[in-house]
Amino acid sequence: MNVETPVTRPTSRDDARSGAHLVVDGVAVRFGGLTALDSVSFEVPPGQVVGVIGPNGAGKTTLFNVVCGFTRPQAGRLLLDGSPLRPVPHQLTRRGISRSLQGLGLFPGLSVLENIVAGATHSTRAGFASHLFALPRGDRDERELRERAEALIDDLGLGAHAGAHPSTLPYAVSKRVALARTLISEPRLVLLDEPAGGLGHDDILELGRLITSLPSRGSGCSVMLVEHHVDLVMEVCDRIVVLDFGKVIAHGTPAEVRNDPAVAEAYLGAEVAS
Ligand SMILES: Nc1ncnc2c1ncn2[C@@H]1O[C@H](COP(=O)(O)OP(=O)(O)OP(=O)(O)O)[C@@H](O)[C@H]1O
Ligand SMILES: [Mg+2]
Repeated sequence: MNVETPVTRPTSRDDARSGAHLVVDGVAVRFGGLTALDSVSFEVPPGQVVGVIGPNGAGKTTLFNVVCGFTRPQAGRLLLDGSPLRPVPHQLTRRGISRSLQGLGLFPGLSVLENIVAGATHSTRAGFASHLFALPRGDRDERELRERAEALIDDLGLGAHAGAHPSTLPYAVSKRVALARTLISEPRLVLLDEPAGGLGHDDILELGRLITSLPSRGSGCSVMLVEHHVDLVMEVCDRIVVLDFGKVIAHGTPAEVRNDPAVAEAYLGAEVAS
């Protein structure tokens, strides 16, 4: 059931602690004559971090877009906690899903705190956050949102930047703001698209710690991580799905995937084996 409130709140902490259960079942996407996804099936079990990797053009972004609702599959279905999921990008929050896109997508005219609060709205417009901070109403939701944003700012080490505007921040800090914005709605499923893109070694290590903390933080969640950075995926994921030419060629724990000859053959053998 959709929850028609501005901020998705778990109905019970026990439900939320385990995170959402996403099933991708027989999904196919064709672009003209090109098959980008071919009968793709896998699950993101409650409370797990599932990585999606694969060589260039394998279909990772297409799969991410299907789960976000940007791309309609020609076949197959998605289930969230056993119910059909027909995602609509701006309504994901209502189903307890939050996504972080490859670009930062921060609002330049808003502070870090305001940007994080804006992540709790269904809208992609900055209007809500400006409105929120201009109002003296102090109603319970608004106060809660501010408190949650402040807690995330502390958690993610953004305290020194709370009042800063995104253009003044180092890139790695902006990425953390974008992640905080993803978490403000207390999602039960987080979808991350290339979160390590553009980050240096130390920042990737820090990101890895953050991702592994997601299932157990706050009210808990499951994570689908689409990422080029194989070392990060191997480090943080409970299970990994490997795509090649739109098909799932391997699916298992990092150790299973690392030792799978089909993966070594299809996917940058040296890097996977290292
Ligand atoms: N909108 C589109 N129109 C036509 N073809 C597309 C479209 N989007 C993706 N494709 C094709 O579908 C295939 C899968 O692309 P996709 O972007 O999902 O791969 P990817 O695994 O994300 O690749 P990369 O690692 O380069 O990001 C590719 O052959 C790509 O050229
Ligand atoms: Mg891609």
